[in-house]
Amino acid sequence: MLKQAQRAYNFNAGPSALPLAVLEKAQKELIDFKGTGMSVMELSHRSAAYEQVHNQAIASLKELMNIPEEYHVLFLQGGASTQFAMVPMNFLPQGKKAGYVVTGAWSEKALKEAKMFGDTYTIASTKETNHNRIPKLDELAYEANTAYVHVTSNNTIFGTEWFTFPDTGDLPLIADMSSDILSHQIDASKFAMIYAGAQKNLGPSGVTVAIVRPDMLERANENVPTMLRYDTHVKNNSLYNTPPTFGIYMLGLVLEWAKEQGGLASIEKMNREKAALIYDVIDQSEGFYKGHAEKDSRSLMNITFRLASEELEKEFLAQAKQAGFVGLNGHRSVGGCRASTYNAVPYETCKALSEFMINFQKNNA
Ligand SMILES: Cc1ncc(COP(=O)(O)O)c(C=O)c1O
Repeated sequence: MLKQAQRAYNFNAGPSALPLAVLEKAQKELIDFKGTGMSVMELSHRSAAYEQVHNQAIASLKELMNIPEEYHVLFLQGGASTQFAMVPMNFLPQGKKAGYVVTGAWSEKALKEAKMFGDTYTIASTKETNHNRIPKLDELAYEANTAYVHVTSNNTIFGTEWFTFPDTGDLPLIADMSSDILSHQIDASKFAMIYAGAQKNLGPSGVTVAIVRPDMLERANENVPTMLRYDTHVKNNSLYNTPPTFGIYMLGLVLEWAKEQGGLASIEKMNREKAALIYDVIDQSEGFYKGHAEKDSRSLMNITFRLASEELEKEFLAQAKQAGFVGLNGHRSVGGCRASTYNAVPYETCKALSEFMINFQKNNA
């Protein structure tokens, strides 16, 4: 069996690393899941064996994130990108406005979709400084008649992350947590809704998690197509149509693994230690590496940095590739490099990158 040491140094932004223990469990159960004589992929989604997988995954997510009992946990399809449209379709009524905090490309996309369904406004934007920070809470001003407030909790491309969320009072707070769900503790009860594509911290792509406070369903718009209504999936426990059963099974295994790590408090501690390995190299490099994000906005999940010139960046990425590091190219809107240090990226992998960065500087300063 493959050891962790033989696995790639995977810093992909998503889909991204999965825990080795999860992959091994799935491998073991692949052709005979719990004595059924078939894989989870081959089970009927109406079978008791599958339903157990499905309901256990919901229960595990509620337990790990300390989600209030009455909240609904849904498994949807279409990625977080479909949520960009489903949120306003369901929760933006005529005569109200949806407020968006624009902290990166994904929030811009979410806002663009909302504009197709009704009135919107930008609560705050960090575009002027190429999204290198999270706005201060006192920069956020809400207009009268706001239907909901939308934030992107972690900006995958720019490498910034919210750690203190605004208190929006009676205004429903909705967060796209695609790239930092399950990475640190949050107070889920502050949110009217949370959504996330699974392919970073939750499992493989193909499943989208939505966590919805029940009162949101009462205020939802009528005349929304069946598959795009949250209440369809609530009423049917996400089994209205055929769900992505194997993805949900994998997600369930990832959640079991997260519990074995000691839950979100331990995972957060590990993520802070991992990110510090790389941020410390950046900070101690005397400008050889330049972090994109302002220090107090730095993401624990996506570490973005540049070198002095594009040639040097090219050389860094070429040598990193040679040394076995995968996925370090920055997104074109920031340039440079990005290391995605999601939950399943081991400490040793981050340590190896920090050592590589130190050596590269020594040889190229
Ligand atoms: C913060 C954020 N939101 C939304 C998306 C889009 O997700 P999907 O590809 O599941 O539609 C991504 C993808 O990387 C993301 O990082």
